[in-house]
Amino acid sequence: MDYEIIDKPPVDEFAVRPNLDNYVAQRAAFNYPDVIKELDGLPGGGLNIAYEAIDRHLVHGRADKLCWIWEGKDGRVENYTYADASRMSNQFANVLVKLGVAKGDRVFCFMDRVPELYAAVFGTLKAGCVTGPLFSAFGPDAAGDRMADAGARVLVTTPDQRAKLTAMRPNLPALQHVIMVEHGKEPALEAGELSWNALIKDASEVFEIVRTEPEDPAVMHYTSGTTGKSKGAVHVHQAVLGHYATGKYVLDFHEDDIYWCTADPGWVTGTSYGMFAPHTNGMTSVIYEGGFSANKWYETIQKYKVTVWYTAPTAIRLLMKAGDEVPRKYDLSTLRYIMSVGEPLNPEAVVWSNRVLGLPFHDNWWQTETGSIMIANYPWMPIRPGSMGRPMLGIEPGIIDDDGNLKPPGEEGDLAVRPGWPSMFRTYWHNDDMYQSKFRNGWYITGDRGRMDADGYFWFVGRADDVINTAGHLVGPFEVESAMLEHPAVAEAGVIGKPDPVAMEIVKAFVTLKDGYEPSDKLRGELMQFARKKLGPGVAPREIDFLMVLPKTRSGKIMRRLLKARELGLPEGDTSTLEE
Ligand code: PRX
Repeated sequence: MDYEIIDKPPVDEFAVRPNLDNYVAQRAAFNYPDVIKELDGLPGGGLNIAYEAIDRHLVHGRADKLCWIWEGKDGRVENYTYADASRMSNQFANVLVKLGVAKGDRVFCFMDRVPELYAAVFGTLKAGCVTGPLFSAFGPDAAGDRMADAGARVLVTTPDQRAKLTAMRPNLPALQHVIMVEHGKEPALEAGELSWNALIKDASEVFEIVRTEPEDPAVMHYTSGTTGKSKGAVHVHQAVLGHYATGKYVLDFHEDDIYWCTADPGWVTGTSYGMFAPHTNGMTSVIYEGGFSANKWYETIQKYKVTVWYTAPTAIRLLMKAGDEVPRKYDLSTLRYIMSVGEPLNPEAVVWSNRVLGLPFHDNWWQTETGSIMIANYPWMPIRPGSMGRPMLGIEPGIIDDDGNLKPPGEEGDLAVRPGWPSMFRTYWHNDDMYQSKFRNGWYITGDRGRMDADGYFWFVGRADDVINTAGHLVGPFEVESAMLEHPAVAEAGVIGKPDPVAMEIVKAFVTLKDGYEPSDKLRGELMQFARKKLGPGVAPREIDFLMVLPKTRSGKIMRRLLKARELGLPEGDTSTLEE
């Protein structure tokens, strides 16, 4: 079904005039390296994301401006100014230096969205170290594999992660310091742990940021591929140009905005758009520690008078499910601009929000690897519901064929981007071969399939590989298969994404059993529990089927494509490589 275009008034009629008000002219004039002129650079030379996001505002009159409005799961509310954020991150940077941590070392965080997490990330950057925030719901296998690969030297975490830490510790020979945080409390320490509070208490509030260069590594986020374990996409300080510019032109930040990004910093949206884009633009940001609840979310918008809101399709579908009456109970009139990312945004969701919230969700597209938004709908631009929008200034995406040639408008192909933008990942940690394999004929290949229409709007078609997108989080089937194989009953495992009306896809595993084991509901439950414990609830399979054999190629590779086709009752396609 075709959806009607959602029109926009002329830019002169906007209550808040968009920063991007003449797309054609601004696109022609835009040059990413020039963005540095709107930033400060480190005093004395160099570039550091934390300086651009936090400290420079102290010299531009924003010391007392609210940086974070934090609401804890238990309802506590705390306000932090830019001066507070600067002080807290300085203290943590001093702690790292005192511990002997060196420039370039990896400092990981594995915790909920408490203020210390934000101080730790910015402090890590100030110390010239590489920050790696991990999603707190990860199980010990998922978190441990990532930290082991990165060779993390410091971990900032919370006492409730201790059992996981014990399980992963033997695989973390590089880990020297574990810093325990319990927000608002003094945690009872166990052997070998350090107390955040004690370390901070002794740390100076002044810190001279370690000089970092634009190409020095700053942030690592692990992302999933079809084969192998997840890979650490490495971003450098130069990325801050992308965070700032997309914050200005896509998120349309203005001085008085109250901004809420619902993403967790364990995923790239929660750092690029929960930390770097808003704060390089000097925004006040709402951080809600709790999870999804329709009432609580609407209440958060009302309570903090949120004006700009960035969220994700799964959450929007849950809001739709909660019903049209729920938002009517709240005053959401401060909202002026709302956006979505991470999965395909159903056109119905755009139309629904326009009808019920009075504003359409603006979809945009990017990836862990791209570091910042590549394709977007903008405040001024009429929306074609279902489209991801048009290229960000300075970005050249294309739909290409197998030889790397551009395909004509309307035709499906690989979604690719011309390399060279500032926030592009520079490699996968210790896996440069994999990085190099992502390029074709001068294009970065995103792994997504798409098409562009005659007016330059891009449309998402699907993934080109077996990577699963569940509730906006990418899951690599190999990681899940590997965990399943560790159970004594499992002989083989094949994992697919099964379409789901809310989460877009759920993780589904097919397993064959070793001799001596019989399929049963009890065993199914046991396998589910086993996987949840190792991987965490967001990664573990939600469904498990027992099979006698898995379809495999003659060379022994499990054909996930066939498992999926059979599950969905779709044509099996080319089965010439199928083992007899
Ligand atoms: O498949 C695309 C999907 O999410 C992938 C990127 O996921 P990740 O690296 O975790 O980055 C999350 C930050 C955005 C993409 O390759 N995706 C992302 N945005 C959209 C999307 N699919 C459809 N529409 C989108 N707007």
